[in-house]
Parts: sequence; structure tokens; C-alpha cells
Amino acid sequence: MSPFHVTRTLPENATDAALRADVLEGLTRMPKTLPPKWFYDARGSELFERITELPEYYPTRAEREILVDRAAEIASASGARTLVELGSGSSDKTRHLLDAMPGLHTYVPVDVSESALRQAGEALVAERPDLHVHALIADFTARLELPATPGPRLVAFLGGTIGNLVPVERAAFLAAVRALLAPGDALLLGTDLVKDEGVLVAAYDDAAGVTAEFNKNVLRVVDRELGADFDPDAFQHVALWDAEREWIEMRLRARGAQTVKIHALDLAVDFADGEELRTEVSAKFRMDGVRAELAAVGLELTRWWTDREGRFALSLSLAG
Ligand code: SAH
Ligand code: TRP
Repeated sequence: MSPFHVTRTLPENATDAALRADVLEGLTRMPKTLPPKWFYDARGSELFERITELPEYYPTRAEREILVDRAAEIASASGARTLVELGSGSSDKTRHLLDAMPGLHTYVPVDVSESALRQAGEALVAERPDLHVHALIADFTARLELPATPGPRLVAFLGGTIGNLVPVERAAFLAAVRALLAPGDALLLGTDLVKDEGVLVAAYDDAAGVTAEFNKNVLRVVDRELGADFDPDAFQHVALWDAEREWIEMRLRARGAQTVKIHALDLAVDFADGEELRTEVSAKFRMDGVRAELAAVGLELTRWWTDREGRFALSLSLAG
């Protein structure tokens, strides 16, 4: 079997400290918010994998179609010997890229979900005896330290996950990614595109209720990790399209007035009947906007591919 390394750049208790800080800050402000990275414990990662298979959730299938069609072009344009993937999850779609990159030396999946990284990494090294896999348990919004591996590097950020950052976070994130790239390195970015509101809302509010369970999973994480007594059933999943900001906003709406105790913070949080907690945004993009955001950090968008229905885009940008 080929080498499989796992590096944790989040100290075991930093997760705890960061969760406390985020929950304290998010639940004592108005409107109340919780940051999305806390969705992804082992159960959250599994629920997300179920989302990717839902009939309403088109982004995964659309992005896979582009990867199948364009993997060879991406591989030859980048010439990468190291593939770094941010928010890699199950690394499932990434296999199309890996297959097209025979000269690849090391794959560096980066995720906050240790369970997803271990599952994906162990399967990959078993299948690909020549590939080095160096997984990083890390927060991609914090300063990343990548292992020393041969260049050129291709940094991939798939799934439209960049849309889960709000514009100021996105600008800071892209600047940090740019700083990881040397001349000749490249960024492969997956962005979901603006489209009909009905299609978008259905993708985040499926008939089987899997997305609702996923959204409420953040409450279970806070219950378990911080000794809180959120009742997930006392909240309703809400997904709405903000046409001005061009993002889907996920919320949890209190069914009835309630007080939630968060033991580890010694905090009691009151919710009014119908009060909404914002859990996540998922921004949708247009080519000009993506080009401009990349240009703002000194990256030049050189290729833009969409699926046949024009729902999702992959772009390749080169670091000069
Ligand atoms: N790339 C996969 C998974 C997308 S879901 C796909 O396209 O299907 C988003 C992934 O990003 C999850 O695996 C989640 O655990 C991870 N993630 C979310 N926020 C993160 C953060 N701040 N740092 C690192 N990983 C994060
Ligand atoms: N990156 C995914 C997206 O924006 C994450 C996601 C899918 C998600 N469905 C969700 C996040 C539902 C919160 C709730 O499409």
C-alpha cells in the first residue's frame, strides 16, 4: 500500500475552543447565526453524501459531468504533480481528476471532517499504489500550512463550497489561497450558477427532508459538544433565495418560544416564536463575478467550463 499520512493542524482542543467562541458570538447577536463548518461531524458528512444523491440536488451531478468531460484538459493545462483539495469530503468526484493525472505525485485532501478524510484516504491508497496521500485535518479559512511536495501544484475547491463563504470571507479566503500558489501553480474552482429560483430552492429543501436533517445536525453538534439542550424537532428548516445578494440562505425557525441552555457556556438563549437562526448561505455566481473576484487577488481566469445545462461552472486560473 502507498503512504497515507494524516496531519492535524487543528489541535484536539482548538476545535472545542473555536466552537465555544463561535456559538457564544453567534447566539448572543441579532439575528442569531452559527457558522457552517460545524455541520460536518461524522453524521453531518454522511448526511451531506446523501444530499449529493438527491434528485433535487443537481450541483454534484453537474460538476461531475464537467470533470468527466474536462479532466484531461485540466490535467494537461496544470501539469500538476501535487493536487491539494480544500473541503475534499468523500473525494468522490476527485477520482475523475486523479485518473487523468498519471504524473501526480501527492494528493493532499484538506477537511475539518476527520471521519471523511480517513475514509476517503484509506480507500484511495488501497486503490492507487503509486499515489502519496497526505490528508490535512484543517480549517481552510485559517492559515494553511501545506506539506512540502513537488510542484507544480493544483489547488481544487469543488462542490460550490466557496459559496458558503460570504463576500468578505471569500475575498480573504481567495487572497490566502493565492498566497499558497507559486508561479505556474493553478486554482480549479467549482461555482454553482444563478438560475431559476424554484430549481435553487428545491436543491436546498428536498422532498425527502434530508437537507432539513443536515441543517438541524448543527444543533445536535452543539448539544453533544457543549452540553446544550436544543430540541432539533422544535426547529423548522427554511431555505430561501435572496435575489439581491444572489444566495440561498438556510435558517432554522423556532417552533414556539423556547429557552435553550448551553451548559459549557453557562448560557441561556431565548428564542421568540418564529425566530430564525441563520446557519448557512450558498452563493450562486456568474462568470463576470467569478473573474472579478479572482482578478482582485491576482489570479487570471483562463478557462471556464459549464455542464451541458449551464447550471454549474468549473474555472481554472493560473498564478502568474
Ligand atoms: N468537495 C465535496 C464536499 C463538499 S461539502 C463535494 O464537492 O462533494 C463541503 C466540505 O467542506 C465538507 O466535507 C466539509 O467538512 C468541508 N468544510 C466545510 N467548512 C470547512 C472549513 N472551514 N475547513 C475545512 N473543511 C471545511
Ligand atoms: N457546499 C454545499 C452547497 O452549498 C453545502 C450544502 C448543500 C449545504 N446543501 C446544504 C449546506 C444544506 C447547508 C444546508 O451546495
